[in-house]
Amino acid sequence: MPIKTIIIGTGSHVPSQVVTNKDLEARVDTTDQWIRTRTGIVQRHIASDQEPNSFLASQAARKALDMAGVEPGELDLIIVGTLTPDMPMPSVACLVQKELGAMRAGAFDLSATCSGFLYSLSVADKFVRSNPASKILVVGSEVLSRRTNWEDRSTCILFGDGAGAAVVTGTSEDRGIESTHLHADGSLWELLTIRGLGTAHPVTQEILDKGWQYIQMQGREVFKHAVRALEAVTGEALKANGWNGHDVDLLISHQANMRILDFLRERLGLDREKVFINIHKYGNTSAASVPIALDEANRSGRLKPGMKILMVSFGGGFTWGAVAMRW
Ligand code: UT7
Repeated sequence: MPIKTIIIGTGSHVPSQVVTNKDLEARVDTTDQWIRTRTGIVQRHIASDQEPNSFLASQAARKALDMAGVEPGELDLIIVGTLTPDMPMPSVACLVQKELGAMRAGAFDLSATCSGFLYSLSVADKFVRSNPASKILVVGSEVLSRRTNWEDRSTCILFGDGAGAAVVTGTSEDRGIESTHLHADGSLWELLTIRGLGTAHPVTQEILDKGWQYIQMQGREVFKHAVRALEAVTGEALKANGWNGHDVDLLISHQANMRILDFLRERLGLDREKVFINIHKYGNTSAASVPIALDEANRSGRLKPGMKILMVSFGGGFTWGAVAMRW
């Protein structure tokens, strides 16, 4: 039997501070009704100044390690998918390594925006296939609130902070990750970007005045591309495994917009209970959204051995991808 990658533990963590749609009504020209009907979001969790990305990531990681029964010292590698690191150097992964005391582990961040977790899981899958005994911590963690313009109603209603994690290793059993599918289209980067505070546009008063330190999104355009890309990559993953839509027991998608989730459900012909939804609680947490959803599905008992799970994501870059697995 060929070696496959299995997830042996999951964990997630969100900050305790909750900002509801009603709270946002007091800050920008919006309504709870508009946000619910256009996005499905009801509230989001926002990190305090004392909760940088690496804190959220470490909290989620500890829970995943506990469930896996793996000591930090056993980890070979830590990969953190994120677009909101604590600082440019070091990586969040190195800070998580220090926090956990995982001193045998290599550590790096992976930049693939909202697809950061699935990209990271795909990379971990390749490591495990070449060294089945390895134990890898894969994290998706974001503090997007620090890069959100809280006066821009078209974006500030969407995003939330949080982290999710998974511990993976190899098995010769007939289960685990069946296929991974990664895509990108850099030609469309301007539709969803944080232009400023990198090396192209360093901190100057002019850049700050333009608001380039914040997320800028052409929502309607991004929506169209997201729907198309997610439909295509879903089809690709199904085909690669000889599955059809009805074979999928649980779809765990990036939680960007309830209407995108509804569209995917209809295209796959899935019943409502086969699409995992938690966007109402957390909003769009970028790279954290898939692993938080995975952890909630796992801990609530929705994942049963042998189930066919399809995870999909789409984000800035653009990047998109899918991971198909048998639980
Ligand atoms: O995570 C990465 C992937 N991200 C996504 O996939 C996000 C994709 N995009 C979306 O989810 C949606 O495009 C949004 C939720 C961002 C926006 O929804 P929409 O239905 O595409 O709205 P829109 O941008 O076309 O705006 C429609 C109207 C506009 O008013 P007019 O021009 O029709 O008078 C906006 O000004 O809604 C207005 N609007 C708002 N109204 C109340 C925009 N934001 C708000 C708001 N409250 N917060």
